[in-house]
Amino acid sequence: MQIIKSTKELQSIRRGISTKIGFVPTMGALHEGHISLIKKAKKQNDIIFVSIFINPKQFSANEDFSSYPKKEESDIKICELCKVDYLFIPEISSIYSQNEVLIKAPNQSYILEGFSRPDHFNGVLQVVLKLFGLIQAHNSYFGKKDAQQLFLIQKMVNDFFINTQIIACETLRQNDGLAISSRNIYLSKEERKEASLISKSLYCALKIISKNEFDTSIIKNEMINILKDLNVEYIEFVNKDFKEIKKVQLKNTIILIVVKFKTIRLLDNIWV
Ligand code: PAF
Repeated sequence: MQIIKSTKELQSIRRGISTKIGFVPTMGALHEGHISLIKKAKKQNDIIFVSIFINPKQFSANEDFSSYPKKEESDIKICELCKVDYLFIPEISSIYSQNEVLIKAPNQSYILEGFSRPDHFNGVLQVVLKLFGLIQAHNSYFGKKDAQQLFLIQKMVNDFFINTQIIACETLRQNDGLAISSRNIYLSKEERKEASLISKSLYCALKIISKNEFDTSIIKNEMINILKDLNVEYIEFVNKDFKEIKKVQLKNTIILIVVKFKTIRLLDNIWV
């Protein structure tokens, strides 16, 4: 595996590759979820690029960019074990310049995750567009767990005619259903137990829908009953255009949920 730190070096290596490239962008602190993306990329491509870049532009002022977990040494080991070909770990200064052209995320970026973090998706799209330009992968891999991010990246690819195929990968779960996330390690024992109720509430929603109940407020109430005293930030139903809906549409609905444990926000969703 070759570690690349500079954008110039990356571009020169990229010019020499003519086989099929798979790309997995990350912010590091790699876990099973990332590994499953890398494995899928490995199966479907000849050469794999992974990037590790903690993107300052996607953190709001009240979020602590500086305390985001950094695990470069173990991340490098994981990538080596996964037989990644190129690991791109750029400095902030090599990615961003002064007074640069800015991407503005569309309306769907100001609801849900973007509601309390209005510039978050501008920052995500800005960096992902740069990474796509640098790596020019045939296939790029993103988790369905970050459903709104996935939607906006797919939209950017369509709107800007970017030549990469977005591969949406299933959410990886622990035995009790909790979606795997780098934030799970911050939960206390008790919180970790309670966190399994998040996926339970989503599966309960599926069960209700399978009995032909499509009214989202009824489904939401049932979910809230399961979540009991947990601090639910939102439960929302959207269609695949990320417009909020009042009636579930089969094969065109995503149920999204965020539950807070102190400052830790756990996201999950299910595609109906
Ligand atoms: O999902 C993430 O880890 C980040 O938002 C991404 C896509 C790597 C952009 O910084």
